[in-house]
Amino acid sequence: MNNRRSFFRRSAALGMGAFGFNSLFNQMHAADFARAEEYWNPASDNNEEYWKVIQDAYTASKSDIVILNNGGVSPSPLVVQEALDKYNRQAAQGPSYYMWRVMDKGREPLRQRLAKLAGCDAEEIAINRNATEALNTIIFGLPLQKGDEVVGTIQDYPNMIQAWKQREMRDGLVYKQLSFEFPIENDEQIVKAFEDAITPRTKILHVTHIINWVGQIMPVRKICRMAHAKGIEVVVDGAHTFGLLDYTIPELECDYFGTSLHKFLSAPVGSGMMWIKKDKIEKIWPLLCNSVPQGKDIRKFETLGTRSFCIEQAIGEAINFQEGIGNRRKQERVHFLKKYWAEQAQKIPGVKIHTSLKPEFSCAIAGVSVEGLKPEQVDSRLFKEYKIHTVGINWENIHAVRVTPHVYTKLSDLDRLLEGLEKIAKKA
Ligand SMILES: Cc1ncc(COP(=O)(O)O)c(C=O)c1O
Repeated sequence: MNNRRSFFRRSAALGMGAFGFNSLFNQMHAADFARAEEYWNPASDNNEEYWKVIQDAYTASKSDIVILNNGGVSPSPLVVQEALDKYNRQAAQGPSYYMWRVMDKGREPLRQRLAKLAGCDAEEIAINRNATEALNTIIFGLPLQKGDEVVGTIQDYPNMIQAWKQREMRDGLVYKQLSFEFPIENDEQIVKAFEDAITPRTKILHVTHIINWVGQIMPVRKICRMAHAKGIEVVVDGAHTFGLLDYTIPELECDYFGTSLHKFLSAPVGSGMMWIKKDKIEKIWPLLCNSVPQGKDIRKFETLGTRSFCIEQAIGEAINFQEGIGNRRKQERVHFLKKYWAEQAQKIPGVKIHTSLKPEFSCAIAGVSVEGLKPEQVDSRLFKEYKIHTVGINWENIHAVRVTPHVYTKLSDLDRLLEGLEKIAKKA
């Protein structure tokens, strides 16, 4: 521990960022991850020795409580916690110097690395605090007129629904909401529902990439192609997909995108990102002030006032960690974990799964219910009797307990969930 502490002190003194050879990730994990690679068998879907190394990197994997609500907010691996501590201690020595003169210099390298992870141009990325901030900036910043129409769904996230409703009240927009009966294993049905809602006044479609309530993956690219053919732009809420699904933002073919980084990327709580297609930056008004509000520089969205540059800088180690695993491997593992429990759960009498188990239609999240019990009752019994933390969902037409594993989730955690569901269903 002493060795570790002096390591950190040295790296802090040298001002090493997350992207140098001496990153905390390299200090703490390079050797373990290299060893773990030797365990990896690409032909197997059971690489438990490899995943044990990843699980051990998260302190949450040792918690007494089994956390299966990673869709709400995810824990960070220890390396990210250590990075945040390091930056906080450094800032405490004099925030006006260490934050504004030292850490501030880390923003552009961070933008570059986020852009690399997102597969886009760094000049299209603004770093902020969460998906709500990113998407509200876009929703309130779009130059729409009275009578212009926006199409979303009742299954979108409330903070975005409310933002559109506020624009409806203030600016006289017409906000229409579709409703879906999930699960749906037919992209064309979803695209058609959006298409049928379009009128000559429609300007924007709002699409949630993964529906947070029940885990449906929406066919974003197909919706965008249909919309663009009609001259309509698309806003994508990627809060549940960035750092989980293996995609680049340009592949989605959308116009605007917002995400949190504290969900599947496991960056510190209070980190987010906005992406705007280059030629659209100029027309979006910043939500907070800027000296050139109609400028083309994406940084006009970062006049956020004094906030924690420590949190921002610690995102770098979350990116290192993510890249150490790889996007494709992470997506497949998390989907495997979901399938592992959900396939067994749906065989338990009285238990129902509310989410498609096919990888094209869902990944981490699945909804589950027990006949005769409300979601909040199942959630509460899982916690009280089995120390399993989930979330009971009652939103519009969705009534289920949401279960969301993450890369650090152990198969034994999911076995405990299955035992709990079986016993709860038997007593119901
Ligand atoms: C689909 C979706 N969008 C946006 C958000 C908001 O994320 P944040 O609270 O990080 O702003 C959430 C949060 O759970 C979400 O599920």
